[in-house]
Amino acid sequence: MRVILPLLLLFSLSGFSQTINIIPNPSKIEIKDGFLNFKQGLSIKTYGEDVELTGIARLFGNTLFGSKAWKVPESKDRAKLIILHILYPQSDPLTDESYSIRVFPDSVLIQSHSYRGLFYGCQSATQLFINSVLTNEVPCMEITDTPQYAYRGMHLDVCRHFFSTDVVKQYLDLMAQLKLNVFHWHLTDDQGWRIEIKKYPRLTEVGGWSTQKDGFKTGGYYTQKEIKEIVAYAAERFITVIPEIELPGHSSAAIAAYPFLSCTPNEAKTVPTTWGIKKDIYCPSDSTFSFLKDVLDEVCTLFPGKYIHLGGDEAPKDAWKKSSVAQALMQREHLKNEEELQHYFLKKMEDYLATKGKRCIGWGEIVKGGLSDSVLVMSWLNKKAGVKAIAHGNQVIMTPRVFCYFDYPQNISDKKPAWWMLYLGVHKVYSFNPMANSIPGEKRKLVLGGQANVWTEYITDEKRLHHQIMPRLSAMAEALWSKHKNFADFQERMNNSAVLK
Ligand code: ACM
Repeated sequence: MRVILPLLLLFSLSGFSQTINIIPNPSKIEIKDGFLNFKQGLSIKTYGEDVELTGIARLFGNTLFGSKAWKVPESKDRAKLIILHILYPQSDPLTDESYSIRVFPDSVLIQSHSYRGLFYGCQSATQLFINSVLTNEVPCMEITDTPQYAYRGMHLDVCRHFFSTDVVKQYLDLMAQLKLNVFHWHLTDDQGWRIEIKKYPRLTEVGGWSTQKDGFKTGGYYTQKEIKEIVAYAAERFITVIPEIELPGHSSAAIAAYPFLSCTPNEAKTVPTTWGIKKDIYCPSDSTFSFLKDVLDEVCTLFPGKYIHLGGDEAPKDAWKKSSVAQALMQREHLKNEEELQHYFLKKMEDYLATKGKRCIGWGEIVKGGLSDSVLVMSWLNKKAGVKAIAHGNQVIMTPRVFCYFDYPQNISDKKPAWWMLYLGVHKVYSFNPMANSIPGEKRKLVLGGQANVWTEYITDEKRLHHQIMPRLSAMAEALWSKHKNFADFQERMNNSAVLK
C-alpha cells in the first residue's frame, strides 16, 4: 500500500497531460511533444503597450498570481514568458472572440485578432496554469478556440433581494472566467427600484425600500456613481451590461413612489413584500410616458451598450380594462384589445430608445399584441415565443426556464422553496441548446444565444447566490460556447478544476 499510493498519485498527476482542464471546452486542443515547466515561475509580457493590452495583462496577472485557489509563482529571472500579442484585425474586432494559445517548452504565446479574444485566451490560460500548479508542468500544445453563440448571458434580479456592488463584481468575475459576455441587470420590479434617477428621487427614497410585517425595513439601491463603476468593471472584462427597466407590469415600487403612474392613483400604495404577479401596472397616460422617457434618458447615459431591456412579461390587464384613460387611448388608436395596447405602449418606448441609438429587448409575452421589426425577444416560458419571433424575422435570445432558471433548486436535497419551482440539475443545464429544430436553416442565425436567469425571491444572501449558480453556470457557459460537448468529460474537468468551484 505504501508503494502503491505514491505511485497512484504520480500516475494521476501525470495523467493530466491528456486532460486539459478548461471550461468552457475549447474548439480544438492539439497536444505536442514536450512540456513547459514553470517551477521557476511565469512572467507576462505584452507585444505592444497600448492601454487595452496592458489592461488585459494586468487583470491576467491579478488572477494568475493572486488566485485564491493556488498561487502560480511569479518570478522575474528564470520565469517562462507568456506573451500577449494582438494580430491585425481580420473581421470586426468588436465581435471577433477567437484566440489561440501555443505552449512551447520555453514560452507561451496567446494571440487574437481582437482584445476581446485575447482576454478570453488569458481566461483559458489562467485555468490551464492554475489547474497544473501541483506539477508546475503543462504539455506543449496548440489551442484554437471560437464560440458557438455570440450572446452568452447571465441575469441577476437585485429587486427581490438587493445585492451590493461587491457581490455584483464577484458575479462579473465569475462570468468573465467562463467567457460569458452579457450581464442582464434586473433593476426594477414590484419589490424594489434599485437605480438612482436624479429627476425622480422618490424612486429610490420610497421605491428602494420595503417594510416587513414586523416593521423591519429592507432594500437598497445603486447610486449613479456605483452604476458607472459596475459598467466600467464589466467593460474591462468584456461584459456588456443590459439594464432592465420593467414595463408596464412589475412596477409596484415605482407606483408606490409616484402614484400618478397608476390608473388608480388615489388608492393607497406601498412597496410589496410578497411575490407574485401584481395587478396594479403603469397606466398608459401621457404623464406615465413622459416619466418613462425621462427615466430612459438617464438610463441611456449610464449604459453605453446597444440594448435596453423593457420587460413586458406578466402584465395583467385588469387595471386597463377598468381605466377610462386606457380605454380612451385604445379607441383613439384603434386598438382591438389590451394586448394591442401593451404593444402600443412598448412600441412608443422602443421608438424613443431608437432616437437615442438604442435597441429594445422584451420578454416573450411581447409577441402577443403585435411585434415590431427591430425588438429583440427573450423567450423564457419555453422556446415558443422565440420561434414565433424568428418567423417574423426578429432576433431572439433563448432562456427557457426548464433549462435556464438558476433560482430553481439544483439538488434533490435542496429544500424546494416554492410550488412553481422545478428541479434543475447541472446535467439538464448542460444539455441546453438555444436552437430549436423547427427553425429553418436560413433563420438559425437569428438565435443570438442564451442566458441563465437568477430570480432572487428565495435567494437572500451572497452564500445562497453562489450555491444557486455553481456549478450550473459552468455548464451553461459550455452549452453556449463549446461545439464539442460531453457531460462525463465536463464533469471530470469540473471535478479537477481548482479555479471553478
Ligand atoms: C419571467 O420569469 N417572468 C421573465
